Amino acid sequence: MARLDENHPIAAVLAGALDRFRVRRQVPGLSPDERLDGKLALVTGGASGLGFATSVDLARRGARVILADRRDPGLARRRAVSLGVAPDAVEPMEVDLSDLHAIDRLVADLAGRAIRLDRLVLNAAIVPTAARTTPQGLDEMFVVNYLSSFALVSGLLDAGVLPRDRPDGDVPRVVFVCSESHRWSEPLALENLDAPRDGSPRRVLTWYGTYKLMLATFAWELARRLQVDGAPRVAVFALCPGAMRTGIARELPALLRAPLDVMMRLLFQDPFVADEPVLHLACSRALEGRTAVYLHKMVRKDVDPKAADPGMGRALWAASETVLAMTKPAAAPVAAPAGAAAK
Ligand SMILES: NC(=O)c1ccc[n+]([C@@H]2O[C@H](COP(=O)([O-])OP(=O)(O)OC[C@H]3O[C@@H](n4cnc5c(N)ncnc54)[C@H](OP(=O)(O)O)[C@@H]3O)[C@@H](O)[C@H]2O)c1
Repeated sequence: MARLDENHPIAAVLAGALDRFRVRRQVPGLSPDERLDGKLALVTGGASGLGFATSVDLARRGARVILADRRDPGLARRRAVSLGVAPDAVEPMEVDLSDLHAIDRLVADLAGRAIRLDRLVLNAAIVPTAARTTPQGLDEMFVVNYLSSFALVSGLLDAGVLPRDRPDGDVPRVVFVCSESHRWSEPLALENLDAPRDGSPRRVLTWYGTYKLMLATFAWELARRLQVDGAPRVAVFALCPGAMRTGIARELPALLRAPLDVMMRLLFQDPFVADEPVLHLACSRALEGRTAVYLHKMVRKDVDPKAADPGMGRALWAASETVLAMTKPAAAPVAAPAGAAAK
């Protein structure tokens, strides 16, 4: 019998809906005393959907949260306050993650304020229905869904904002919001990492899976690089939240969005429910000393073998560094000493 391609939008929606009944929880919920009092978290894409729910729920567990998003994160902060979050528990920060120079400025700003992050949740993603180019000439979906996370984590580690050697021994955690779709992707073709993407809406879920595979591959390589003698200096976790009622498909044509909205309302989870694995990875005491843990909803799984492959992890890291280096502003030419031109 012909099998429906998992990257087909209908198959993806059905798989998401079926998950609701198929995936049984295995990991126990957090206890009320697993809290983040005194800790600082940064959530990308924190203004809506899963990122907003995560920001509110991290704040409810005592964290101060930097809510980073591209459009009016101040409004999201006011919504968080209207839900009972203390006004000083959320700091809005405007950043367009498709602009790699804006990420550099964000890192410089945090470093200049001597900020040390305890938790970083890499959540932002888009599902665009056309190819668009970023200020550095790259594809927007590639940058927002993958390269911005590589750039942000590298910058925060280099600047010490994400510290590897906390004197109190309290290990920071990086949580990657991934997706089960990373399993459906073809193996990564690294020689074309920054090649222009075919923007056909029919292929957007294929690209979505590819960038989630990049994210998971990067995450597992990061976990390997950030441990010493098996002990994480910075813990790295990833998850798939399952299908959620959010605005992620906001670019779809109205004709497709209308039935999807109905499916979402009937079958998909509320983000304030779906954020449970994110909260678990950020707060659970059972994860102390652990790294490279993946949750599909509240079920422990291995990431796909393609993502766990150390050779692929090293190759993706090197290819990502090469693309990033190409986007750095050219150094200003050094002025020739006076009189040099006359010789
Ligand atoms: N929804 C699902 O069923 C589902 C399933 C599995 C995994 N996930 C993952 O869950 C995560 C959250 O998705 P969601 O469903 O909550 O979607 P969402 O509501 O669209 O949230 C994504 C957030 O990222 C922000 N963002 C997009 N581009 C940005 C940029 N250039 N700079 C800064 N922020 C940017 C968006 O801002 P704008 O509003 O301005 O675009 C939005 O606030 C994503 O990683 C997604 O892949 C979702």
